Amino acid sequence: MKYSLNRKLMNRNNKKILITGAAGFIGFHLVKKMTSLGFKVVGIDNLNQNYDKKIKKDRVKFLNNNIKKKFFTFLKCNIDKKNQLKKLYKYKFDYVIHLAAQPGVRYSLLEPEIVFESNIRGFFNILEIVKKNRVQHFMYASSSSVYGGNTKLPFSETDIVDSPLNLYAATKKCNELLAYAFSHINKIRSTGLRFFSVYGPWGRPDMAYYFFCKKILQNKKIEVFNNGKHKRDFTYIDEVIQSIAKILKSKELRKRKLHNVINIGRNKKIELMKLIHYLEFYLKKKANITFTKRQEADMLETYADIRFLRKFDKKFKSTDFKAGIKKFVQWFKEYHKNDFNF
Ligand SMILES: NC(=O)c1ccc[n+]([C@@H]2O[C@H](COP(=O)([O-])OP(=O)(O)OC[C@H]3O[C@@H](n4cnc5c(N)ncnc54)[C@H](O)[C@@H]3O)[C@@H](O)[C@H]2O)c1
Repeated sequence: MKYSLNRKLMNRNNKKILITGAAGFIGFHLVKKMTSLGFKVVGIDNLNQNYDKKIKKDRVKFLNNNIKKKFFTFLKCNIDKKNQLKKLYKYKFDYVIHLAAQPGVRYSLLEPEIVFESNIRGFFNILEIVKKNRVQHFMYASSSSVYGGNTKLPFSETDIVDSPLNLYAATKKCNELLAYAFSHINKIRSTGLRFFSVYGPWGRPDMAYYFFCKKILQNKKIEVFNNGKHKRDFTYIDEVIQSIAKILKSKELRKRKLHNVINIGRNKKIELMKLIHYLEFYLKKKANITFTKRQEADMLETYADIRFLRKFDKKFKSTDFKAGIKKFVQWFKEYHKNDFNF
């Protein structure tokens, strides 16, 4: 079934957006949202293997099957390779939302060079596209990990972020600096989105909530670092997408400098053990847990100050964590029904 688009919106909105990382978790949901608002979206992704490629392909298949061709075009390309980005030259983009990156702290420990190439070289190549199109607004994914070893909570955009605990965090901080200088020189608005542990349906198999769920069902041991004392500001995907859509064309930003960073979080700290208990509850199955010590690259807690975010969405209401996990488990059971015989 094709999305039923609001006719008035479609006629009003002929704007074109480039969304990078469109086969990824956040990119997939964002493509759905922006096309439903009548934007014409070109989505790019290299469908890499940093986690199971099948879900990336399934996301693209879903988008191609459910969105009319005139609203969505998917192109496979690698942002690290400048020559592959030539396919984008024929489009005239009004906005660029750059989400493609090699995410995850653990991956940056295993494959630092790949992370460096995509997160730094790739980011730089996308800036060239932004400049070529002189877009109205360039938005890009930063991360709560830039707060690194900071101890003052909650984390605020005005805090100094000079102590990244791993290469991934350092690349995101570097993106913010590059974007700042880029906006300053080129007079193009840019906004870094510091996402805090985004979760939900069609999520990332390399994130704890997803692989814990899988391991509980497979009766496999789950390793819980720092004796389960880590806390995360888990943010449900729908709110993240709603925030991006609101910020993209917000008048609020016009009162500010050309480059800004915004925390995209929920302002609630959740202990990792709570996540496990909710998974056990909805899966009706006990987890087999081994507690281990803290990893040096891991942050102890993440907790977002979202006063700035609220300026873009005054009625912002976040999904309760238990309800969010319920929705994730429902989706998981449907998506993996053949793997587990639910
Ligand atoms: N999900 C979270 O909790 C979270 C938290 C903080 C920051 N972020 C950031 O948000 C963005 C989106 O995250 P996500 O959770 O959707 O991750 P994701 O891995 O699901 O999506 C990223 C997509 O980018 C693509 N990609 C990577 N390198 C590429 C390259 N060189 N060329 C083309 N495509 C490439 C991947 O194939 C993937 O589909 C990332 O930049 C990530 O670092 C996410």
